[in-house]
Amino acid sequence: RTLDWSLTTVEKQGFRHFMLKEIYEQPNVIRTCLDAYLNPHWHPQDNSEVSPINLGLSEAMLGNVENVQILACGTSWHSSLLGKYLIEQLAGIPTMVQYASEFRYAPSPITPNTLSIGVTQSGETADTLAALETEKQRRIALDSKYRPRILGVTNRPESTLAHMVDEIINTQAGIEIGVAATKSFTAQVMGFYLLALELAYRRQSLSLEQIETIINGLRHLPRQMELVLEKQEPIIEELAHEFNDTQDFIFLGRGVNFPIALEGALKLKEISYIHAEGYPAGEMKHGPIALLDAKVPVVAIAMPGIVYDKVISNAQEAKARDARLIGVTVIDDLDASHTFNDILTVPRVDEILSPMLAVIPLQLLAYHIAARRGLDVDQPRNLAKSVTVE
Ligand code: G6P
Repeated sequence: RTLDWSLTTVEKQGFRHFMLKEIYEQPNVIRTCLDAYLNPHWHPQDNSEVSPINLGLSEAMLGNVENVQILACGTSWHSSLLGKYLIEQLAGIPTMVQYASEFRYAPSPITPNTLSIGVTQSGETADTLAALETEKQRRIALDSKYRPRILGVTNRPESTLAHMVDEIINTQAGIEIGVAATKSFTAQVMGFYLLALELAYRRQSLSLEQIETIINGLRHLPRQMELVLEKQEPIIEELAHEFNDTQDFIFLGRGVNFPIALEGALKLKEISYIHAEGYPAGEMKHGPIALLDAKVPVVAIAMPGIVYDKVISNAQEAKARDARLIGVTVIDDLDASHTFNDILTVPRVDEILSPMLAVIPLQLLAYHIAARRGLDVDQPRNLAKSVTVE
């Protein structure tokens, strides 16, 4: 008897699709990044000048940064929005995020002492490479305040991007086969936590104790991600049955979780072909609320923190329009149990770290809805893993 396992079956390691396998790889990817980039000997009481973060980036790259400009496409654009939140809120540096495809034909005016960051998991996305080349060329002949300093955030240290930029953060997620990005996204976000902390340390915008608290929180994430996978996947698989005929979804989030609402909607669109919109919850009243009725489920990310009450009240407005309300919130949240029809829970963490947990139920929701519909989850129609032409 011959073994009829194809190579891909073996590579999927018992998972039905690569996407699901890659969702499950996330805790270990984050462990790898923490091992690689946190300085194990650092302690806030140390008087040494050693940074807690060890990204290996130079003074020429990170010294005296007055503003940051991030260029990306697709899911990488979502991790970049999170990067903006983290760099602004932790390091206090004004940050812009632009679609690379827009920037290449309408670059913003040149500013001095700008750190430009190109984010692309494949390192091969044509628009991102072209936007970075535009940025490099227009600065190259200018004086030192305006010199190009370009950092790449990529999962492929051998990519075209890696060769064209000055330095990189290698996100170390390992090869991702599913077209819909999952582990490469969380790894990019991890890169931004580390970069924002490194900048905060250099500029002393956070105390050493505040930095230590966030680092301790990061160290707990892999185990907490495992708990979300273990506890929520069966619930989400069951919940997915309810959306056989659903044609539209709305995802709401605010603050640090607004990019997660966008990412949740993108995952669903990409693999299930259901129309989905991600919105900052406070903007719902300016348009999307007109779409709501009993046929349009609303997923609200409601993590305890500064915008929690606001998200809950935005969610209640949706419920008043008969929308089925799915909440992504923390395990011990009693308010939520009154508000939501369905609850997907994650462990309680500091709000600033919550996106890393909140994204997992949304990845699983998109996955199970698409898998249930019998769709080609790993290779959705019309999409490519990396778009190397314009
Ligand atoms: C394609 C993929 C997306 C990805 C985007 C950017 O559209 O289907 O999943 O987010 O490209 O890819 P990059 O490699 O630049 O991160």
